[in-house]
Amino acid sequence: MKSFWDDLPKPFFILAPMEAVTDVVFRHVVKAAAPPDVVFTEFTNATGWAHAGDRAIGGRLVKTDDESPIVAHLWGADPESMAKLAAHARELGYDAIDINMGCPDSSATKSGGGAGMIRTPENAAAIIAAAKTSGLPVSAKTRLGYTYIDEWREWLAHLLRQDIANLTIHLRTKKEMSKVPAHYELIGDIKQLRDEIAPHTLLTINGDIETRADGLKLIEKYGVDGVMIGRGVFHNPFAFAPDAEAAKTPAKLFELLHLQLDLYDKYQSQMNRPFDTLKRFFKIYVRDIPGAAELRDQLMHCQNTDEVRGILASVELFVD
Ligand SMILES: Cc1cc2nc3c(=O)[nH]c(=O)nc-3n(C[C@H](O)[C@H](O)[C@H](O)COP(=O)(O)O)c2cc1C
Repeated sequence: MKSFWDDLPKPFFILAPMEAVTDVVFRHVVKAAAPPDVVFTEFTNATGWAHAGDRAIGGRLVKTDDESPIVAHLWGADPESMAKLAAHARELGYDAIDINMGCPDSSATKSGGGAGMIRTPENAAAIIAAAKTSGLPVSAKTRLGYTYIDEWREWLAHLLRQDIANLTIHLRTKKEMSKVPAHYELIGDIKQLRDEIAPHTLLTINGDIETRADGLKLIEKYGVDGVMIGRGVFHNPFAFAPDAEAAKTPAKLFELLHLQLDLYDKYQSQMNRPFDTLKRFFKIYVRDIPGAAELRDQLMHCQNTDEVRGILASVELFVD
């Protein structure tokens, strides 16, 4: 099936799915800073949605019409529910579905979802097939294995046989969580496997890649198709810019914080997220200036966006 995946630049850069982070608000902030080629939503549970509807998934699938290409990142171990939520994602205007097969949290694995799929490969195939009934292109994001690194060959070969549009690999096992460096040494062998089994499936690497420039270095060495960046945007929201370090001035960071406050107010009624969820973002923007720690501390005591704006107004004359 032809889709936006076929028309992406090579290499392409993806904003990683991050729970309670890559919602409609923060995706717009990253886009304003330096746009990735593709964005993923936070992970959204199919079984919950199939049973309880939108109440079960909050604002996780809220998006705007101009967000494209945008991929609905879904998880769950029940094919019927997956088919239903994938069809709903299509109705909402999503361009594609990505299945989470890497989340290490027991809340996902205990029901066979997330990284639990690595242990139930036949169900993983059934979940992909179910998502495909939506008519949207389907991709998967996974890890090298559940417990041991050398699980990678069998597991990834199985996924590559499922005729998926893209395979993103977070280059660690479930057991490794994020505690060891990503296994870049395996990229070459994984690419060879992809070339043998499914040359039409795009291959995206993920793990410890901070910026576009870092990604390009890996691409130069290994020649995969795409790079996914997650936590890099916490350290530098301009991570997708050609020169991320130069782009990150204190004044521009403040502008982004204002944008995030404005967008939070705009989408709050649809997202229904408490104000406190904004606080984890302050450290992204308030840094590299004298008194940053004190300023962050003041912001952490705010109760609403206007209080944050008030405090920022008292300091930003001095920020350039
Ligand atoms: C706060 C946070 C939330 C995350 N949520 C998800 C998620 O919902 N689905 C998923 O597949 N991975 C999730 N991840 C993992 C990231 O997508 C990514 O695979 C991981 O952070 C490694 O990439 P990085 O080093 O570029 O951050 C999350 C990571 C973080 C830090």
